[in-house]
Amino acid sequence: MVKGRMGWDWEPWSVHQRKSNHVVVKLLVFVILVGLSFRLLFSHSTDFQAVPVSPVAVAEIAASAGAVVGLGDAKPQTDLPSTDAGAPAPKAALDVEEQVSQQDKCDLFTGEWIPNPSGPLYTNESCRFIEPPQNCMKNGRPDVGYLFWRWKPHGCHVPPFNATKFLETMQNRSWALVGDSILRNHAQSLICLLSKVGDPVEVYHDDQYKSRRWHFPSHNFTLSLIWSPFLIKAEIFENDNGESKSENRLHIDTLDKKWTSQYNSFDYIVISGGQWFLKTAIYLENNTVVGCHYCPKLNISELSLESAYSKILSSVFGFVTTSKHKPVVIYRTWTPDHFEYGEWFSGGKCNRTSPYKIREFNGKDVDHVMRKIELEEFGRAATADGSENEANLKLLDTYQLSLLRPDAHSGPYRTFHPFDKNKNAKVQNDCLHWCLPGAIDTWNELIMELITNE
Ligand SMILES: *[C@@H]1O[C@H](CO)[C@@H](O)[C@H](O)[C@H]1NC(C)=O
Ligand SMILES: *[C@@H]1O[C@H](CO)[C@@H](O)[C@H](O)[C@H]1NC(C)=O
Ligand SMILES: *[C@@H]1O[C@H](CO)[C@@H](O)[C@H](O)[C@H]1NC(C)=O
Ligand SMILES: *[C@@H]1O[C@H](CO)[C@@H](O)[C@H](O)[C@H]1NC(C)=O
Ligand SMILES: *[C@@H]1O[C@H](CO)[C@@H](O)[C@H](O)[C@H]1NC(C)=O
Ligand SMILES: *[C@@H]1O[C@H](CO)[C@@H](O)[C@H](O)[C@H]1NC(C)=O
Ligand SMILES: *[C@@H]1O[C@H](CO)[C@@H](O)[C@H](O)[C@H]1NC(C)=O
Repeated sequence: MVKGRMGWDWEPWSVHQRKSNHVVVKLLVFVILVGLSFRLLFSHSTDFQAVPVSPVAVAEIAASAGAVVGLGDAKPQTDLPSTDAGAPAPKAALDVEEQVSQQDKCDLFTGEWIPNPSGPLYTNESCRFIEPPQNCMKNGRPDVGYLFWRWKPHGCHVPPFNATKFLETMQNRSWALVGDSILRNHAQSLICLLSKVGDPVEVYHDDQYKSRRWHFPSHNFTLSLIWSPFLIKAEIFENDNGESKSENRLHIDTLDKKWTSQYNSFDYIVISGGQWFLKTAIYLENNTVVGCHYCPKLNISELSLESAYSKILSSVFGFVTTSKHKPVVIYRTWTPDHFEYGEWFSGGKCNRTSPYKIREFNGKDVDHVMRKIELEEFGRAATADGSENEANLKLLDTYQLSLLRPDAHSGPYRTFHPFDKNKNAKVQNDCLHWCLPGAIDTWNELIMELITNE
């Protein structure tokens, strides 16, 4: 089982270890064959620890840099003209349709990023909860243009996050965010947005600070972050060096008790799959091996990523729809990475400084495969039992809007001032997780719309 070395996020999969300065970055390559045509590569490395936001802490830890790279049509669109916008243009007057706030028919997730001169709702100074790998400003990111955009759905307007309204609505309520490090990124954003109005107190954390809980005494609001990257029961193997000793074993038919055991205590749950599913894995059902996803050395039949992911999400949604307790369950769709000029391990980076225009970048094959499965399984669950479940199941389809934000990742600024000593230093980029403040704050604005416009 997981022998935790403090702070290693995707530790069990590490195969390379690299030391540079005080930073140890463990990276891991998994070559994964998906069906016929994909090769997916991935890393994960370290994770920040207990939150001291000091330069020393930043230097001593390494951030996570996960990535998925789908080949096939996934070549970076480097031939496109740079859309470097510099300072954003002033915002046009609100059009009439925007003033009529939320309309029934508006699709919150189809739209574009437009300039937002007023900028983010918090800063690296005002929010003390931004963890080092996300604190791009503090880490010396030189450009700030990425902060001055807001999401504008076609046909309606998403107001800025209103922390007062959120906390008043959520008095005595309990939330959970269940998933991987992207959910942690998301939780930090929510805490920063809320901390303007209520002061959170951390009331629980596990040994590795992966699962945590905060309470906002002013509104008796509880926010839990539950580390469950596979959502199902998973056995993870590694040797004493933290190297993967054996394939991880995923029990397709058994959900992770970490979240199911607490399920009845939550009023709202945000849940998501993610890049972990792309890793090598042996799948079991009823404790019997039913297949393996990229295990060429083992004589186990290949189980496609697609069928495994469908089954797992189907188990998750099955639990949700059959459970007597009916919290609002918000499923967040696949989050894209934006590595260009290479893969995560070969100098890939994300150095754009403004959003893509619509259709400028279509995403990688693997994104489409995974999101399609999510939409199918979500759709099935939402309409199960004569759509009885529609009321408490909500789709937070952040894929498209996130896809348009190659500029919003930490990139090299996941570490403290990476180029101070050497302008041409080779640094690991993180083009999967997001800077705070930044584009991911929009996810919370959209959640607010989803749950308050019923
Ligand atoms: C916040 O970021 C600015 C640069 O944008 C920097 O000058 C300042 O020192 C940072 N403050 C903290 C507390 O990190
Ligand atoms: C935020 O919500 C509160 C409570 O619903 C409301 O009184 C306030 O006007 C809102 N603020 C903004 C800027 O809309
Ligand atoms: C806080 O909320 C919980 C429900 O989440 C409730 O049981 C408890 O009584 C509340 N406490 C206070 C002090 O309001
Ligand atoms: C919160 O819970 C407390 C204690 O149970 C109760 O007095 C109060 O009315 C509740 N507030 C809301 C908004 O439900
Ligand atoms: C699970 O496996 C056990 C034996 O290991 C067997 O008795 C049982 O019928 C199986 N259940 C299902 C649902 O396949
Ligand atoms: C692989 O498994 C099949 C049946 O499960 C068996 O016939 C075959 O001999 C095995 N091959 C090796 C190399 O073990
Ligand atoms: C991004 O990096 C590439 C490759 O190193 C370089 O050609 C390009 O000019 C850079 N773009 C920006 C906006 O800095």
